[in-house]
Amino acid sequence: MKVTVFAPINVALIKYWGKEDNQLRLPANDSLSVCLTNLGTTTTVEWDKNLNQDLADSRMKRQLDKVRKIAQINWRAKVVTKNNFPSGAGLSSSASGLAALTLAATAAAGLKLPEKDLSRLARLGSGSACRSIPDGWVEWSKGDDKTSYAKTIFPTDYWNLRILVVIVSDKKKLVSSTAGQELAFTSPFYKARVKSMAAKIKKIKAAIKQKNFTELGKIMEADCLNMHRVMRTQQPELNYLLPETKTVMQAVKKWREEGLESYFTINTGQNALVFCEPKNENKLVERLEKIEGVIEVRRDKIGKGARLLT
Ligand code: PMV
Repeated sequence: MKVTVFAPINVALIKYWGKEDNQLRLPANDSLSVCLTNLGTTTTVEWDKNLNQDLADSRMKRQLDKVRKIAQINWRAKVVTKNNFPSGAGLSSSASGLAALTLAATAAAGLKLPEKDLSRLARLGSGSACRSIPDGWVEWSKGDDKTSYAKTIFPTDYWNLRILVVIVSDKKKLVSSTAGQELAFTSPFYKARVKSMAAKIKKIKAAIKQKNFTELGKIMEADCLNMHRVMRTQQPELNYLLPETKTVMQAVKKWREEGLESYFTINTGQNALVFCEPKNENKLVERLEKIEGVIEVRRDKIGKGARLLT
């Protein structure tokens, strides 16, 4: 059977950086994210008895092996996958990519896994991929191999926020999230960060419940800066930000002080994600596009998780 799926990228408001178990991809802390509507990966998988090797890259092959084991098949797969945004540039292409592959490969093998099992399996491919399976506002609990998966905590249409994807460069990062996270523990700030995470999750959930945008934005931005502080103080140090990224960060802060409210978050890459309320979207896009070094601003909103297209 041939199956095509779409999986969105997810943006963590409270991030994870560092794992308790690198093999099983168990995070050191819980994290909280939203799925986007437009940015994501479209993947087609077809299992074929007559192929003698998988038509896929090595990370995908390892994920296909897991699906073969569950489905008890020994066929090879043809995989065609496409991101509609720059890959490896801080926009979570591994999250949408591994989530899409997991859903497509299982469905094409005739498996209908419950959402939590799909999320768990996606986690084994790339930690944050588990958060691209459920819809809307999503929490990933650290747990153990069985209990570490992501689930929806508020539905897609719960709160109409906008996410502006600010692209300053499509250059691929030199150090992957997986490799970078393995050395998170070398930062003197790492332990304190991990210790502070449960309280942050509690606080941001209260802000979401009250639909308090200012509180949500403050917690999200502070967590992003805290994570990048850990990265910068790891050994060897990691800096994913470009001068243009910093210009965007400073502009967002300045406009906020002037009354135009938005908050940024940044992953392992140079591109920024700016959260705002719909009333400020047009003005912010107009201003962001004028910043020297900004190539493109993509508009997005909170969306559904991975789903079958055909
Ligand atoms: O799961 P990975 O290896 O793609 O790590 C992603 C880590 C961050 O994007 C930096 C944070 C997060 O929680 O998404």
